[in-house]
Amino acid sequence: MAEPLLKIEHLTKKYDDNLILNDISLTVHKGEVIVVVGPSGCGKSTLLRCINALEPIQGGSIRLQDDIIDPKSKNLTGIRQKIGMVFQNYELFPHLTVLDNIMLAPMKVQKRKKEDISEEALRLLDRVGLKEKANSFPRQLSGGQKQRVAIVRALCMHPEIMLFDEVTAALDPEMVREVLDVMLDLARQGRTMIIVTHEMQFARAVSDRIIFIDGGKIVEDADPDQFFEAPKTERARQFLNIFEFDAVKPHTSHSAE
Ligand SMILES: Nc1ncnc2c1ncn2[C@@H]1O[C@H](COP(=O)(O)OP(=O)(O)O)[C@@H](O)[C@H]1O
Ligand SMILES: [Mg+2]
Repeated sequence: MAEPLLKIEHLTKKYDDNLILNDISLTVHKGEVIVVVGPSGCGKSTLLRCINALEPIQGGSIRLQDDIIDPKSKNLTGIRQKIGMVFQNYELFPHLTVLDNIMLAPMKVQKRKKEDISEEALRLLDRVGLKEKANSFPRQLSGGQKQRVAIVRALCMHPEIMLFDEVTAALDPEMVREVLDVMLDLARQGRTMIIVTHEMQFARAVSDRIIFIDGGKIVEDADPDQFFEAPKTERARQFLNIFEFDAVKPHTSHSAE
């Protein structure tokens, strides 16, 4: 097994007195793709926000390699550069071109050479099918194109791990596929990723492991085929029924003719 990259141990997260994440432990190895699923409000976004040091935690620890992740960590800027996050609502700067949006943080935060970054940015844009949009402004792009730019922007920081929070949830259906395909491509390249998604077919195809959260706890930590074909818990079974995922539906016999 590859080396552990991210190690979450006994994480507790509360908002005031509401216990949202209750004793969550999860280790993600280099190159692993984890998909997190669970009912709305179960704490998926909160978990990603904790991993990105956007939220104080009330118990346990989160480590990325040798760094402790905590909003109070001294080296927070350095730690955050190791974590790429893409949200549902792409926040591209409207007054900057696609290329300038991508180049901003590598130039300002990482102080890398402009020529190196632009070469890399164009190569990555090409890989997601958007090289010809480099000099366009965000308003000239579709939602799916903007989301692909947001992914390239995160990749250009050379993160150790990528976090995706329902990145296709706000897209028109015809644009979902193009964004999922980019994520599948990243998985094939061996990127370490934690993905929150409601696209269950995609979840099964892309993941090495499925994490099912309910009631603040990890209820299942499973191989994707096992999770979708034969979930161990009743709670996971009920959750999957909502999606009418073929593999968990009872077989119905009907004569075709
Ligand atoms: N900033 C916040 N302050 C208070 N409660 C919050 C905050 N953010 C999320 N919550 C609550 O925490 C729970 C988990 O939310 P969230 O992580 O967004 O769930 P999910 O992403 O799984 O739908 C929900 O009950 C939500 O209302
Ligand atoms: Mg969420």
